[in-house]
Amino acid sequence: MLLSVINSVLEMQSLTRKADTILGFVPTMGYLHKGHLSLVEMAKKQCDIVIVSIFVNPTQFAPNEDLDNYPRDFDGDLKLLTELGVDYVFFPKTTEMYPAGYSTWVNVEGVSEVLCGKSRPAHFKGVSTIVCKLVNIVNPNYMYMGEKDFQQIAVLKRMLLDLNLETVIVPCPIIREADGLAMSSRNKFLDTQQRQDALCLYNSIQHTRTRYQQGCRTIGELIPEIEQIITKNNGKIDYIEFRTADDLKPIDQLDKNTRLFLAVYIGNTRLIDNAPLLSQ
Ligand code: PAF
Repeated sequence: MLLSVINSVLEMQSLTRKADTILGFVPTMGYLHKGHLSLVEMAKKQCDIVIVSIFVNPTQFAPNEDLDNYPRDFDGDLKLLTELGVDYVFFPKTTEMYPAGYSTWVNVEGVSEVLCGKSRPAHFKGVSTIVCKLVNIVNPNYMYMGEKDFQQIAVLKRMLLDLNLETVIVPCPIIREADGLAMSSRNKFLDTQQRQDALCLYNSIQHTRTRYQQGCRTIGELIPEIEQIITKNNGKIDYIEFRTADDLKPIDQLDKNTRLFLAVYIGNTRLIDNAPLLSQ
């Protein structure tokens, strides 16, 4: 089947309400990279029909964030998705998703208030609202999401559970460049020096893993070491935190269920990364 582009909510809903097949869904904001493509490939393996949405969601950007500059390449995206055999691309206009008078929001308390939720207070409200709408429109059995946005997955799992939505999230591993930088649409904003500096996130993860292997269990010892790696490479720290992998609770001591979470500004570009302490 040839890929079809659907712009209308009603059309998308009528297509997916009829389907008696396993639907896989990959929500994206476009400007697709290998990380997104790995989600599509996983969905292709596990589902009969694969739908990808491309929508740069304005409500998850604060006024001072990069909504207008967010990279876009619809034709390039379409080419990649056609090559992968995607069935439908849902590509709505902003007015289709947020028509005049729009006033309803989904706010997941607790898990969305820590880590990125602290420095981007309205972000997860925008994410959970748009994903709730997309799930209602697409009605997928499975939704594929990358673990680079580990907190996003935790917030959305909570939302699906609390709102009795039947879609199941399939978390997929972070895809990295050969030198370890996690793939992200925002990497495009890094100049040559900043691209080099950005390695401080992955280097912090590797350093933490080595220290954990060596027996270090003390957060107070590790944080200054990570701070040093980041600042030496011109990074500005937003947060360095160790939390439980299942519910993102703060911890006193490192153990095998701990995950490291990082958010760092390289120039004006905010990069995030995370990893378990034992390499997978
Ligand atoms: O991860 C993203 O690209 C976005 O937050 C999402 C899930 C597509 C919602 O706009």
